[in-house]
Order: sequence, then structure tokens, then C-alpha cells
Amino acid sequence: MRTQVCIIGGGPSGLLLSQLLDRAGIASVVLERQSRDRVLSRIRAGVLEYGSVGLLERAGVAERAHAEGLPHTGTYLAVQNEGFRIDFDALIGKRVMVYGQTEVTRDLYDARDRAGGTVIHGVAGTALHDLDTTAPFVTYTLDGTGHRIDCDFVAGCDGFHGPSRQAIPKDVLTEYERVYPFGWLGVLSETPPVSHELIYANHPRGFALASMRNANLSRYYIQAPVDDPLDKWTDAAFWDELRRRLPLDAADTLITGPSIEKSIAPLRSYVADPMRWGRLFLVGDAAHIVPPTGAKGLNLALSDVHYLHAGLVAHYADGSDAGLDAYSATALRRVWNAIRFSWWFTTTMHRFPGQTPFDQAIQDAELRHLQGSSTAQANLAENYVGLPY
Ligand code: FAD
Ligand code: DHB
Repeated sequence: MRTQVCIIGGGPSGLLLSQLLDRAGIASVVLERQSRDRVLSRIRAGVLEYGSVGLLERAGVAERAHAEGLPHTGTYLAVQNEGFRIDFDALIGKRVMVYGQTEVTRDLYDARDRAGGTVIHGVAGTALHDLDTTAPFVTYTLDGTGHRIDCDFVAGCDGFHGPSRQAIPKDVLTEYERVYPFGWLGVLSETPPVSHELIYANHPRGFALASMRNANLSRYYIQAPVDDPLDKWTDAAFWDELRRRLPLDAADTLITGPSIEKSIAPLRSYVADPMRWGRLFLVGDAAHIVPPTGAKGLNLALSDVHYLHAGLVAHYADGSDAGLDAYSATALRRVWNAIRFSWWFTTTMHRFPGQTPFDQAIQDAELRHLQGSSTAQANLAENYVGLPY
């Protein structure tokens, strides 16, 4: 088979790239390791920057997000069971939209179906070849039969563990990494959210986050040891611990119910530089990971797609490679801003093992400053709603 852009990974970044390219008349094939049902069963991000919503609009897939998504003009932070609000709208005139990654991905699959796009599920042994030539190709097996796709470019949208980044020679790549000494235990439950806006809570027992998907679907997280066995966290144990960490008024009104999903995610900051090698372009989690505290992972994946899509369109429409040549540097500038913000918010909101009295006093001072200073709040708001592309 031959196509113009071979996209490895049918998560949100791969699907959005394929959709945007299609609308520009550029052919692509998406290769995905998992079944569609499996991809759509992963509960991940919940907050979209408005830049991300704009991108979905340009891709013609924002209709349901606008109908069902929840615009949020602010968020609560809590310290020792007492909350205060950061008003994005009043501070900087911007907002975010609560609309789950699962729904974004579903909308993209529906759009690819409508356009007759090719998404091949269940591929195994995906391998990238001749990336440093003008004739790269990708091989894989499907149901035991070997296949080959020849293409002009390869987009590595295959997440942190995918083969694309591994295809870049080690001596070309600089990797930056910080692994945090805790995880997030997440629960999804068919209960009304405890608050109409998100609550990010700093508490001596550890961080907690109250989020949502809709009026009867809540998403909650608590900081927990990453190697805790999940069966230690019965629903009752989870709700008790969450209640202890939330602001008192929220804890009093928390409605609990059976969890319909429960998992522990590790927290990591990671950047691979460069994000391009020859005809291969890395996109999203394949190139970078942020801890989830700033709600940046999905949004960064989508902004990478914006830059790569623009570069590819200029290549095919005008024969200009300026955008493709600048892709890595341009995307990485935005990535590092989100890496810094996510690191800062994670460091400010969590309890670290071995945190000294000095470390604790600095964290307390940071939060007091944030509570009392509209300048500090505007800084948080500017980063949280998303820096311009
Ligand atoms: P992915 O969504 O990872 O998609 C990559 C795709 O490539 C997958 O579908 C995978 O199956 C496929 N693939 C992998 N290997 C191959 C192969 N060999 N061949 C073909 N296909 C392959 N962000 C937030 O902002 N908030 C959150 O709460 C949050 N929670 C998260 C929880 C977890 C457990 C994880 C892993 C991530 C979370 N994130 C969160 C981050 C966010 O979900 C990611 O940043 C986002 O999914 C990135 O999209 P992507 O398309 O780059 O990668
Ligand atoms: C959600 C996840 C986040 O990491 C975050 O910062 C906000 C919301 C969520 O899953 O709803």
C-alpha cells in the first residue's frame, strides 16, 4: 500500500492529524495496535484548552463538544480543607472546557468513518524503515500476515511506549526526565460531581482532585503510592480518603457510589529532543509526558498536531518545507512551557516523601501567595487555560 503520511497510533493525536490532513486533501493511513473499543475504554484527560477546542472546530469535530462539554470559567484550589477560587474569566478573560478524551476520540473516529478514512486496528510488530531517506516505509503484521506501507512521511503518534521514538538513533536524541515518587489513584463513578468546578486540593495526607465528565459522572483522584495494590483501595477506602482531603463543605456534600473504573497512574515529566528525525515526526506522548496536575497532556498532543499539520499542508500545497523544518523547535518551545507549569503545579500541590520542614514552609508560602495575589493567580490562569499557539 502507498499513502502520503503513515500515522502510527490511533489515539487522539493520530486521529486528529489524519482528519485535518484529509480536509486539506492529503492522504493518510492510521495504524493502531488496539481495537477501537479498547482505545475508547481508556479513561484519561478531562480538560480542554480553548485552543484545543478551536482545533477540533477546524477539523469539523467540535459539534458534540460544544453541545455536551462544560465551559468552566474558574477552578478551586484548596489548602488544608479550605478552598479558594481562581477566576480565569475575571483574571484573563479566558476559560476551559470539560470534555473527556474518550469523547474527543469517539468524535474523531466517527468523523474518520464518515470521510471513509483508513484506520487499521490490531496491527502488531509495527516497524519504521529508511526514515533518513525520501522513501520511508512502515511494516506490520495483521492477523499473522505481513504488510508494508510506503509513504512520504511518518507521524509517530504512538504514545510513550510506541516504536516511533525508539526508531531515532540514541546518539541523536537528548532525553530529559523526572519521575515523581507517587501516583494518582483515579476513580470514575456515576454520581453527581461534588462541585460545579474542579477542586485541586493540597492536604497533609496528600493531593486530591475532584473533576467530572457530566452532571452524573464524576472523576476523582487522590495521590497514592504508585505500587499500592489496587485491591487495597476498596471503594469505601477511596471515598474516605478523598473526603479527608477535600474542602470541608465539599466533603460534607460528597455523594459516593460504586466505582466504574479505578486505576493508578504514575507521574512523570519527560521530553525527547528533537521531535523530528529525517522523515519521522514525533507527536504527543511519543515525544513528551507531563504529570497530569496541569491537565496538559492531551492539549499538548493536540498543539503538536496543529504545528505538524500546518507544516505538511505547506509542503504539499506550496512545496515549502519551512514549517516542517521548524516543527521540532516550534513544538518544543510550547512543550517546555507546559513541562514547567505541570512540574510547578505538581510540586506545589503534592506531599513528597522526605519533604523537610523547609520544603513544607516554601510550599505553604507559595500557596498563601497564590491565595492572596491576583498577579500570581493570573499567572496560573494563563498557563492553565493554555498559552497561545
Ligand atoms: P495516546 O493517547 O497514548 O495514543 C497512542 C496510540 O498509539 C494508542 O492508541 C496506542 O494503542 C497506539 N500504539 C502504541 N504502540 C503502537 C504500535 N506499536 N503500533 C500501532 N499503534 C500503537 N492527561 C491529562 O491531561 N489528564 C489526565 O487525567 C490524564 N490521565 C492519563 C492517564 C493515563 C493512564 C495515561 C497513560 C495518560 C493520561 N493523560 C492525562 C495524558 C493524556 O491522556 C495523553 O497526553 C494523551 O492520550 C496523548 O495522546 P496521544 O495521541 O499522543 O497518545
Ligand atoms: C482531569 C484530569 C486532570 O489531570 C486534571 O488536571 C483535571 C481533570 C480529569 O480527568 O477530569
